[in-house]
Amino acid sequence: MTSVKSIKDCKGKYVLVRADFNVPLADGKILDATRILVALPTIKLLQKKGARVVLISHIGRDPEESLKPVYRALKKHVPVRFVEELLGTKVEEALADMKNGDVVLLENLRSNPGEKAGDKVFAKALAALGDMYVNEAFPVSHRADASVVALAKLLPSYAGLQFEREVKELSKVLKPKRPFLFILGGGKAETKIPLLKRYLKEADNVFIGGILANNFFKANGANVGTSKTDENLPPLGAMIKNKKLIMPESVVVANANKKSRTTSVNDVQTDESILDVGVPSIEALAPIIKKAKLILWNGPMGYYEGGYTKATGALLKLLAEAKAETIIGGGDTSVLVERKKLADKFTFVSTGGGATLDYLAKGTLPGIKALK
Ligand code: 3PG
Repeated sequence: MTSVKSIKDCKGKYVLVRADFNVPLADGKILDATRILVALPTIKLLQKKGARVVLISHIGRDPEESLKPVYRALKKHVPVRFVEELLGTKVEEALADMKNGDVVLLENLRSNPGEKAGDKVFAKALAALGDMYVNEAFPVSHRADASVVALAKLLPSYAGLQFEREVKELSKVLKPKRPFLFILGGGKAETKIPLLKRYLKEADNVFIGGILANNFFKANGANVGTSKTDENLPPLGAMIKNKKLIMPESVVVANANKKSRTTSVNDVQTDESILDVGVPSIEALAPIIKKAKLILWNGPMGYYEGGYTKATGALLKLLAEAKAETIIGGGDTSVLVERKKLADKFTFVSTGGGATLDYLAKGTLPGIKALK
């Protein structure tokens, strides 16, 4: 029988697990521990198989930021030792002390400039700490950072359980069951245009909301008043003409006195801003949602932080009841689903933000290619 390399053949081996513990923090407190929790099955599996698990991760964008808050949260789930260094004597000593099944967490990868530079020398120094490499950091796998790409090429490398699941579930939209409905909201339209272009080909219907939709209303000749729009977008005319594109007809607007009303997109006054999709336009989607076999959703429908949550709430409800496979494509949308404790109502909720969008647009990521 041909033998294949398995993540389970790790007894006594030092396994470098690249996690993404980039959790949101406020005053040192973790606001959402999902990214820690999703790494636990991989960590526990490796422990059970007798590996010596060395966890590496970045946190934030400030090289001075520490993983200490993550350590405090992690140790509630798994016995772990924190070394307040990334490379050096303290790390070598801690690793030498490890027994099979032990877990050690090293300090922020971004404390070394080699990480963001994708530096091979830095990757070599990391590789010297382990015998095997596991990528359990899907959310950062769109970056060609040293621990994501160069390191993976220096050691026998594997995908973590959550990473594997992310790729398996998200790849469903690359060869979709039909009818396939794609729903895209949120802001940062320039990052969403490649996605729209792709899914106006791949999907059967594409519904847009959020600030993204404001750009389309404007390009379609509607008065959007003082609504937020994005600068420097390519011409949207061809996409607007595409029959698969569904733009909301009903919107929620408010003026400077914060007086809000639901109206037609053709009735926005010069002093008003579009802040949400009108619930009637979400309700109008119900027959399409009912027929769909696959639904992918990314991005809130309105200015959620400002309390304009009704359209997003109505959509969440419709999708939670849908028979279709439902995939929530990461970022703010995933946070909302977690906050409402609805995660088990969907087929899959991605933990990635930018990585998920890049994967959905391109069908691969640097961190995926590096594992091959
Ligand atoms: C994320 O939170 O999207 C990832 O951890 C990547 O972080 P970055 O955008 O700082 O590279």
